[in-house]
Amino acid sequence: MRENVFRGRSLTVIEDFSIEERRYFFQKVRELKDAYEKGDEAVLDRFRINDPDFGVYEVFLEDSTRTKESFRNAAKFHHAKVSELMTSSSSINKGESYADTFNMLSGYSNRIFIVRSKVEGLTRYLDEECRAYSQRNHLPVAPAFINAGDGKHEHPTQELLDEFTFLEDNGMDFSKLHVALVGDLYHGRTVHSKADGLKVFDNVKVDLVAPPELAMPDSYVEKMKENGFEVRTFASIDDYLDQGDVAMKWYFTRPQLERMGERILQKQAELRKSITFRPEFMSRIKEGTKFYHPLPRHKEHPTIPTFLDNTPLNAWERQAINGMYCRIVLLSLIAGRCGDDYTGPARTLPDYTDEEYIVRVDLSKKEDSGKVKNYSEGVHPIDNGIVIDHICRGEDPSSIREHMRLISTVLGIDDGRGGEWISRGSDGQYKGIIFRPGDYDLTRKDLKRLAALAPHCTLNIIKDGKVSAKFRTHMPPRIYNFDDLCCANEACISHPSQGEGVGSMFIRTADGHYACAYCGRFHSYKEIWARGRKQGR
Ligand code: NCD
Repeated sequence: MRENVFRGRSLTVIEDFSIEERRYFFQKVRELKDAYEKGDEAVLDRFRINDPDFGVYEVFLEDSTRTKESFRNAAKFHHAKVSELMTSSSSINKGESYADTFNMLSGYSNRIFIVRSKVEGLTRYLDEECRAYSQRNHLPVAPAFINAGDGKHEHPTQELLDEFTFLEDNGMDFSKLHVALVGDLYHGRTVHSKADGLKVFDNVKVDLVAPPELAMPDSYVEKMKENGFEVRTFASIDDYLDQGDVAMKWYFTRPQLERMGERILQKQAELRKSITFRPEFMSRIKEGTKFYHPLPRHKEHPTIPTFLDNTPLNAWERQAINGMYCRIVLLSLIAGRCGDDYTGPARTLPDYTDEEYIVRVDLSKKEDSGKVKNYSEGVHPIDNGIVIDHICRGEDPSSIREHMRLISTVLGIDDGRGGEWISRGSDGQYKGIIFRPGDYDLTRKDLKRLAALAPHCTLNIIKDGKVSAKFRTHMPPRIYNFDDLCCANEACISHPSQGEGVGSMFIRTADGHYACAYCGRFHSYKEIWARGRKQGR
């Protein structure tokens, strides 16, 4: 029999579980909830970890009620060892790193960490760190990490319980979903997790209802479109109701005042108005409509007003109750207690090793083999040196010039002879060329750096007046292991201001950007370099 595919797995972002695995998860939650309702102890016992030494450790570095308490109660259902780090009195306050703190706790028979923090990508990083620590120290098992909300990034367990509640109201039908996301879509991590989360449904239509100040960040809208969702945007509930196609499921979020700057806070009354449901809207929604909310709602300014509590619109209370069932099943799967009967495909991790992104051109086949095309140092042809050609083809001259400066500094070729110029091809497009006379001995690492800095370029190595070697660069699938990379997100665990010494890593996205491997922030290939960062970004 195949190993239980869920055992020991971390859930740091919703995509850590495949679509098939998530669909299986929802069936299991259905089974557990039915057993709870019927009081079927035999079924409940099949989910139970039942091990007083199995450590479930909660570390909440940001406030929480539902997530923390539903996990605590879920862990108690399992008769597991439940602990909580008192963050206000822990050594984190003495300047201890997250890695040291969690490594240590891994050694105390803790198998699952549930972590909430402002620091984005923290659980993804800790998962790697604690696996290495466990190996070094020959611990029997490495701990798993559950992201209980990281800054504005993701909240994967909330995503699971939100979707389970949608499914409950759909008769567990995965074929389609039409949902309106209403509220603070800019700061809300629960709605950000939906960009990948809703992929469990075959056909997805998402209506984004938020004023521009609280709009869904472009990268998540892009991701939704890439995932095949139909996406529409509206600036207010009023605007939304003014058109004919209104969803039967509305997912509200709270304006996250604690994450807003002064400028937006000054407009809060106006912003709140555009995303708060009002009595006069009642006649404009269809019968059978359901409202959802990850909660909490604000006691003075709830976006779902309390007069709706006792109406059939109320699905948010059941949604919060489902949180505990979902978390019981998640702990059970990670402990390997259930999941043996999962027959879907095992998750496959991307394999980047085969992709060649620095391609050596076979000069013997080229018409211009050995010829130097006009590459010169001023009026003199170059005898020995390097020429990087086709830089930023198609861009405007000033951005080409700016990027050539970045290439020179990052490659460390800005202190010798040579120059840069911009030429215009017969197709009318501009491109940049850097030439450097002299002896250059480029290592494989230099070439990797060049590909990351200047994809779609050619590098010519010129010896004795001839092109002795020529390479074409493509966008590398991953960029890492360079000191001067830097994620643009200050809240990311890999950002230098976090002081954790985490090296940056970027993964190429389907649309030719680079996503930070930790916080998911999208960057262009120019934006990943610390020195290329524009002021005030
Ligand atoms: C949410 C969160 O913390 O992201 N709450 C929750 O976990 N149920 C939403 C919020 O704080 O508004």
